[in-house]
Amino acid sequence: MKTKLTSTLLLLGALLAAPAAEPTLVIDAAQPVAHVSPTLYGLMTEEINHSYDGGLYAELVQNRAFLDNAEAPVHWSVAASNGASAEMHLDPAHPLNEELPTSLRLDITSASAQAPAGVANDGYWGIPVKPHTRYRASFYAKAAPGFSGPVRVAIVSPNQATTYAQAKVRRLSREWQHYEVTLKTGDVEPTSEARLALSAEHPGTVWLDLVSLFPPTWNHRLNGLRPDLMQMLVDLKPAFMRFPGGNYLEGATIKTRFEWKKTLGPLAGRPGHRGPWGYRSTDGMGLLEFLCWCQDMGAEPVLAVYAGYSLRGERAQPGPALEPFVQEALDEIEYVTGPASTEWGARRARDGHAKPFPLRYVEIGNEDFFDNSGSYDARFAQFRDAIKAKYPQLKCISTVGNEQPESKRVHSRQPDLLDEHYYRSARTFLEDSPTRFEKYNRNGPEIFVGEWGAYEDVVPWSRESRNLPPTPSMKAALGDAAWMAAMERNSDLIKMQCYAPLLVNVSPGARQWRPDLIGYDALHVFGSPSYYAFKMFSRNVGDAILKAAIDASPIQYSVTEDTRHGILFVKLVNPQPVPQPLQFDIKGVRSLGPTAKVLTLAAAPEATNSMDAPTNVVPVLSEIAQPHPSFVYTLPASSVSVLELKVRARTARP
Ligand code: AHR
Repeated sequence: MKTKLTSTLLLLGALLAAPAAEPTLVIDAAQPVAHVSPTLYGLMTEEINHSYDGGLYAELVQNRAFLDNAEAPVHWSVAASNGASAEMHLDPAHPLNEELPTSLRLDITSASAQAPAGVANDGYWGIPVKPHTRYRASFYAKAAPGFSGPVRVAIVSPNQATTYAQAKVRRLSREWQHYEVTLKTGDVEPTSEARLALSAEHPGTVWLDLVSLFPPTWNHRLNGLRPDLMQMLVDLKPAFMRFPGGNYLEGATIKTRFEWKKTLGPLAGRPGHRGPWGYRSTDGMGLLEFLCWCQDMGAEPVLAVYAGYSLRGERAQPGPALEPFVQEALDEIEYVTGPASTEWGARRARDGHAKPFPLRYVEIGNEDFFDNSGSYDARFAQFRDAIKAKYPQLKCISTVGNEQPESKRVHSRQPDLLDEHYYRSARTFLEDSPTRFEKYNRNGPEIFVGEWGAYEDVVPWSRESRNLPPTPSMKAALGDAAWMAAMERNSDLIKMQCYAPLLVNVSPGARQWRPDLIGYDALHVFGSPSYYAFKMFSRNVGDAILKAAIDASPIQYSVTEDTRHGILFVKLVNPQPVPQPLQFDIKGVRSLGPTAKVLTLAAAPEATNSMDAPTNVVPVLSEIAQPHPSFVYTLPASSVSVLELKVRARTARP
């Protein structure tokens, strides 16, 4: 039996949940107010959450160069059964070269054809095996006197009872040499419960280094990227990609910054480095790999250059101490854009890419508002002046935006763009989006929202956040969509925007930050509701912002037009837990096409996608029959919708 108090509360709850009186969205299709920035939707990426190693970078062997831990060959184990025996040790006394200064020494003390012995690698949370697939296994080896192989290279189950694919290297040399074999799987069940094993049937000693296993990659590139993840990214149609960070650009210290010159050329010449997110990076994803990644997505690079400040506060003072870093940035730009007649353009050509890459934007540092010394103004000026002197066409981005205190912003020069970062609750995004960018001064620098993302309630950098799923729920997606609508409405000012972080390996212990847009393990990938909201926006952009207004209502909106094809894109966010009828009033249009397409992402706020339910929340396509310039459409509860309306006849157009 209900008490009076609970009845009153229920009534109050129902009233609060009831939709606002039918609001009207007035669209003036006769008055485009500005161009939509053609570069509005892009990607931001860095090595966090095992985004590259154990993520997009297709390498399957973890700790391939034995540098991840100085004490032990982590992720490697001795593989010896049936009475065979072997030992393995890190061996700095027998390095492959200066860049990879430790090898793995394998001493096989007892082995036979029936009982081989060797080592196995457990990959990045398992080695994924797929049917009818060719894998490229390679390694450097050097045999001690008395041992010459052969070495069996195999993808096996953890207990080695099942062999998924194998090949043999017949003879090993006494000097370091590179070996490569192809492993082909047959009709196997997909699994990530596998290992890469190297074993022999005779006792002896062998040193190993740079042990690598690659599955097929996107565009069949050597040292390439994981196709399923690339497909997810390409599907977003990104216009640009901001790289290599983020904190990953800066490093915890100057020494551990993203030192691009050490990421070039053959993998045996890349020492890797410790990233700021608690694990070592192979630097298999080097500068050229980033650029080819952009090229493969049809996205332009937004290159962030190290600006002399690292996360723990180390900095190079403006003036002569900063000069080497400025030169490093100039060399980097030359590597990206220079013809093969330049020093660094020639290096790029030698690395396999003769054609220069396009480049329009250079970002100077990352989040330099953390530099409390106030040196950013002068550091920015020094970089900017040197870059503009050599490359006047490049736009320089300051990393301190309008949301930061005056004292931290750049005043001595006018940055071309300001990079602003917004990690906010979904609620804050919903509250801020109606007016946030409308308030901006249109005479100041353009804006690049280079990192943003809604969290549900718990801030990403809190301890509590670690216990939440890695990807966001529908609640966050509603905030994200409202924020995107605000940025799109104001894309005369906001030239580029990208969600962050983009990628997360959801395996235990792999992530440092939530929420993230796309989750994966060794074998599978899924998009969060926010991923689908982003995709709905980025694939339905248009080129003109239309004047539109909605009367008092929590509905968030953005209206654009593809002027070439006369298509209106109406993006709507209903954050309420109840459906909301919305009156459309489209001025300047006499009639619309016979049907309108509607893409809808709707789910309870707590609903989400996961490895077990990857498509729980995905957009659904439907149609509105006979839409009219004045019609009512009911937005589902907790939903993001994109209506595509074809203009058939206009009443007027200036
Ligand atoms: O996206 C995660 C981190 O957030 C980025 O590395 C940094 O720029 C920001 O503080």
